Amino acid sequence: MSDPYYRDDLVTLYHGDCLTETAWLAADVLVTDPPYGMAYAPRGTYNRLTGKTAKSSLSKIANDRLTQVRDESLRAWGDRPAIIFGTWRVQRPDNVKHRLIWHKAGQAPGPARASFMLQDEEIYILGSGFPTTSPPMRSVIRTTEARSIEVARIGHPTPKPVGLMEILIGRCPEGTIADPFAGSGATLLAARNLSRRAIGVELDESYCELIAKRLSQQAFDFSEPVRAHPSKVELRSSGWSGAEETFDFGGVA
Ligand SMILES: C[S@@+](CC[C@H](N)C(=O)[O-])C[C@H]1O[C@@H](n2cnc3c(N)ncnc32)[C@H](O)[C@@H]1O
Repeated sequence: MSDPYYRDDLVTLYHGDCLTETAWLAADVLVTDPPYGMAYAPRGTYNRLTGKTAKSSLSKIANDRLTQVRDESLRAWGDRPAIIFGTWRVQRPDNVKHRLIWHKAGQAPGPARASFMLQDEEIYILGSGFPTTSPPMRSVIRTTEARSIEVARIGHPTPKPVGLMEILIGRCPEGTIADPFAGSGATLLAARNLSRRAIGVELDESYCELIAKRLSQQAFDFSEPVRAHPSKVELRSSGWSGAEETFDFGGVA
């Protein structure tokens, strides 16, 4: 096992391939957003005034042509509790017990002319041990940040809102969180906000640098998201009687 790329009192990050850099397997709960296997190409930024789309400077997600790396990492994890992001466009992982929807309400339509616009991603629950409440957490989580602005601000093609990750981690069984596909570090930041230990792995060294910077600067960075304290999430959950759970982060991720 190599030395950590970054470490603080709660978070440890390794630079490498999570299929060989296996420290994350010692954690208790997997919360991750793997390459979906859909060959996603980062979108350019559309300017409504000029009607032009500037080409994205961000590179594609590594290992995103197939679901192989997702499936191999899940096999290594086994039947322990896990929360995994995904898309309806590719085959879901095996043994999904429940499915949540992340409703990206702040996603701009852009210039594309089409009949329908995809504005959500799926989140799969695997394994057992997730705490229960009455009423239970609803299956749709809505965020309102402007997605393209967040991509440019954070510098990763698919950053997840830290507040969204806090809601998910707030529903996890106790113990250390693993994110073997750490990306821009949203899971690690969220875990630390909730005073939970976390172990991350990221293949791309430039993203490790980004994560280390975000974790180091977080205490002073007021552009980081408003933090959803777990008790507040619970409070909103129990007070809401509609079909959709709404967590608004006021326009920031
Ligand atoms: C969908 S992104 C994760 C985004 C992250 N949730 C966030 O909020 O920024 C998937 C990440 O997995 C990384 N990756 C791909 N293959 C990997 C592997 N074998 N081991 C570790 N990281 C890998 C990619 O470089 C990419 O940053």
